[in-house]
Amino acid sequence: MERIGDILAREKYPQNTENQKKSSETKTMTDQDIITGCEEQKAKFGYASNPHCAVCRGLGSVHPILPEGKTDYSQVINCQAQGCIVDQKSIYESTEAYIRGKGVSKFNTFDSFKPVLGAEDTLDAFKDIAFNPDAPPLLIVYGTTGNGKTHLCEATVIELLKRGVDCRLWAVSELLSNLKESISQNTTELLIGRLKKLPALILDEWGQNYGSEWEEQKLEEIVIARDREGLVTIITSNLEPDKMMEDPERLISRFGDRTQARLIRNKAPDYRPKKKAKRSKG
Ligand SMILES: Nc1ncnc2c1ncn2[C@@H]1O[C@H](COP(=O)(O)OP(=O)(O)O)[C@@H](O)[C@H]1O
Ligand SMILES: [Mg+2]
Ligand SMILES: [Zn+2]
Repeated sequence: MERIGDILAREKYPQNTENQKKSSETKTMTDQDIITGCEEQKAKFGYASNPHCAVCRGLGSVHPILPEGKTDYSQVINCQAQGCIVDQKSIYESTEAYIRGKGVSKFNTFDSFKPVLGAEDTLDAFKDIAFNPDAPPLLIVYGTTGNGKTHLCEATVIELLKRGVDCRLWAVSELLSNLKESISQNTTELLIGRLKKLPALILDEWGQNYGSEWEEQKLEEIVIARDREGLVTIITSNLEPDKMMEDPERLISRFGDRTQARLIRNKAPDYRPKKKAKRSKG
């Protein structure tokens, strides 16, 4: 006979291992154990059973009831009670797809961002925009590759969406290919119009892969229009500000007086080799 764990693994559902472990260890589970187990599952997988579920008592799995009304003890399925694991999984998956559609691919969060030396101002500025509706809306962050800029862009998008602020994270090169594609479909103005009005726009890796002056002009047009409206715009780049565009003075001179633009250098080094160095020390 198949074990519960195997069935759940095959079905790709998280098993409430905490609960099961506690159950086999002690045979009696307090309500608090169940709640803690569910919280741990949710933190790990993004969804869990309902600890207060009257059907599965928070375990997330039940024996199915056969059409004639008898319980089939030979099988285990995920609990389909309202608000329990099957519901939670589908809510989680629709949310995940929604966030992916906003340009997030790695689901990096502020929680998983280590407060490294040199990234203090950068982290503060991203958090300010993510959590504070009155933060200065224009933020430009530059610094060496691998020091967490894209990570913080993703974290910010996730938080803004939680707050109900519609936003989109674009790698600039990707946005530019969309812009180019839009020409043949005659939708360029529509796309640019939308980008000018979106409550928050995050343009990652600015200053690379520019094919033409037209592209640079369109990007500038979008940023300047957003600045005028006071809409949240974040730009990141691996380049020094004077290398970010053909004529940085032109862009800067066109920002309105009331602009409280922040230009921040992320001084943290590339995070990736640092991880290795840490490991070899420990
Ligand atoms: N302070 C940090 N804490 C945790 N992970 C980090 C940190 N900085 C960078 N990383 C990780 O290092 C990798 C490279 O970072 P990334 O954000 O892509 O760099 P950038 O966009 O600045 O080139 C990513 O996997 C990211 O999650
Ligand atoms: Mg990046
Ligand atoms: Zn249940």
